[in-house]
Amino acid sequence: MSIPLPIRIRTSLLLIAGLLCLAPALQGQLTDATDSIDSAWWKHAVIYEIYPRSFQDSNGDGIGDLNGITHRLDYLQHVGVDAIWIAPMYPSPQVDFGYDISNYTAVDPQYGTLADFDRLLAAAKTHHIRIVLDMVLNHTSDKHPWFVDSASSRTNPHADWYIWNDGKPDPTNGKARNAHRGPKGWVVPPNNWSSIFQGSTWEWVESRQQFYYHFFYKQQPDLNWRNPAVEKAMFDSMRFWLDRGVAGFRLDAIDTLFEDSELRDESLLGHNDASGFPATGYERTSNLPEVHDVLRRMRTMIDSYPRAAWPNDRVLIGETYTANTAELLHWYGTPTHPELQLPMDTLVGFHQEGDSFTTAPVGALNLVYFRKYLTEMQTELAGNRPLLVFDNHDNPRSWDRYTTPAQSPAEKLAIAKLIATVLLASRSDALMYYGQELGMTTETPKRKQDVRDPIGITGWPAEKGRDGERTPMQWTAAPLAGFTTNRDPWLPIPPNHNTINVASETAKPDSLLRWYRQLIALRRSNPALRDGTTTFLDNSNPSVLSYARIAPAGSKTVLISMNMTAESQTVHLDLASTGIHGTHLYALLFDAPDSAATMDATSFTLPPFTSLIAEVR
Ligand code: NOJ
Repeated sequence: MSIPLPIRIRTSLLLIAGLLCLAPALQGQLTDATDSIDSAWWKHAVIYEIYPRSFQDSNGDGIGDLNGITHRLDYLQHVGVDAIWIAPMYPSPQVDFGYDISNYTAVDPQYGTLADFDRLLAAAKTHHIRIVLDMVLNHTSDKHPWFVDSASSRTNPHADWYIWNDGKPDPTNGKARNAHRGPKGWVVPPNNWSSIFQGSTWEWVESRQQFYYHFFYKQQPDLNWRNPAVEKAMFDSMRFWLDRGVAGFRLDAIDTLFEDSELRDESLLGHNDASGFPATGYERTSNLPEVHDVLRRMRTMIDSYPRAAWPNDRVLIGETYTANTAELLHWYGTPTHPELQLPMDTLVGFHQEGDSFTTAPVGALNLVYFRKYLTEMQTELAGNRPLLVFDNHDNPRSWDRYTTPAQSPAEKLAIAKLIATVLLASRSDALMYYGQELGMTTETPKRKQDVRDPIGITGWPAEKGRDGERTPMQWTAAPLAGFTTNRDPWLPIPPNHNTINVASETAKPDSLLRWYRQLIALRRSNPALRDGTTTFLDNSNPSVLSYARIAPAGSKTVLISMNMTAESQTVHLDLASTGIHGTHLYALLFDAPDSAATMDATSFTLPPFTSLIAEVR
């Protein structure tokens, strides 16, 4: 059974699945399919997610904005990113901080104006940075004029734009939870579906005497994608931005576009959600096959945009939490009917022991998972370009997921560098999240009254929400971290901005920021890291993950070796048996300042938690 995982990973299930799949075959060497070298920008991209509320405030209201992003383009270019993905900045009541859109073709005044957006786009271009927008297709805000109209009666131009239902008779005659008096007597919701954001997915509207469906908050009614007018309206909204010059979209919650047309019950998971409602699986509300028809048409639409003077082929990135690699492959479509160019691979980066939707997990590096999913990413995606991701605005930051409180600051820093190395030295695109390059931490609110994310309010204390991973960007050690001049920013500035910030880390030779910048520069300039295939090495090693990136003819092979343990490890490699020529390793990047820069390729030692990237000669 496939398990739709729209927000966070239900890790215990995946953990079991992962262990069951660990075949002895992993002992062998695996080489990925060779893909031809293609100049398309998105095939080699580092894409940096900006949560606009939290990146840079330019007008002193305590909330980040578009002009703030423009102001920081020099920094983004310095980091080396190819594109920024801006989380929704459209007009919105901000119940879900922009993911509840009330107008798809404008900018929320909190974030600026359309003119500010156009200025940002133009300035980004001069910095060689493309802009990818977030497109929320599954639902609108309940304040969107389409929904306001739709809710007003059963006979209006938008009457069939959302999912409406009369409900079913209430056998208890009004005593049941969520019972309402309809035209034919007491009714309850038509089925047991639970919202990913807690509670029932059904909400009663008196003016229609009907329930509407919402997978997320009740302020986010789901659009009816079986109505062709909805598709046309949403494609038109996308064209509005494509015509202005955006490089593509990150498609929010794309797996939830369709629901079972018969509205059959879902399986009960046997526990209640954080609000006390019986949790259900999502087998009737996500991953329905119809979504792929929409994506094929969408891909045709975006591919119709010309490759202009600045090669600007447009890209579709998917928010695709999948249960396994086979499911991930599905999102690419086929060569004759392509869909998404870059569905997110969350199997590598969010597959973490102890992860759950309700608590910030504390895990450990799990080499077995990394090896399994990194291998599958290269061998089972039919040569498509993978998109790795470790951090975003919905999950505790990787810093906290891969380190434990008992570890020393030096160990934590080394582990963050390992994660950066997996992200940037693999044959994949890389999705980063603001502050990841600094080692920003998850600052979960300690008191309910401080929580801003609604799921953290309704779910407290079991679910504390997502504020922790959305705190303001840490630019400097100044009291407001260089984020704002307002003493009351929308979320508090984490105290650790004293040391974890752009200014200090720019100055510090061994900082995480420097490591990210070096890695990004290297993957851009080194042919093996940019275009090479992958051969996994030493696959039975329980402590060190090693693989080679084999360059196109004429360039040197690059070895990546990462010690994922707290002890020094000596690695023994037999490169010749895999057809790799060379006897010595010349470090290109080595997170071990005291070690030699040249090593014997057959036997070398890695200090605890170190990453080595070396040319084989
Ligand atoms: C996924 C987004 O990443 C998340 O932040 C949002 O709450 C839901 N989709 C609903 O749009």
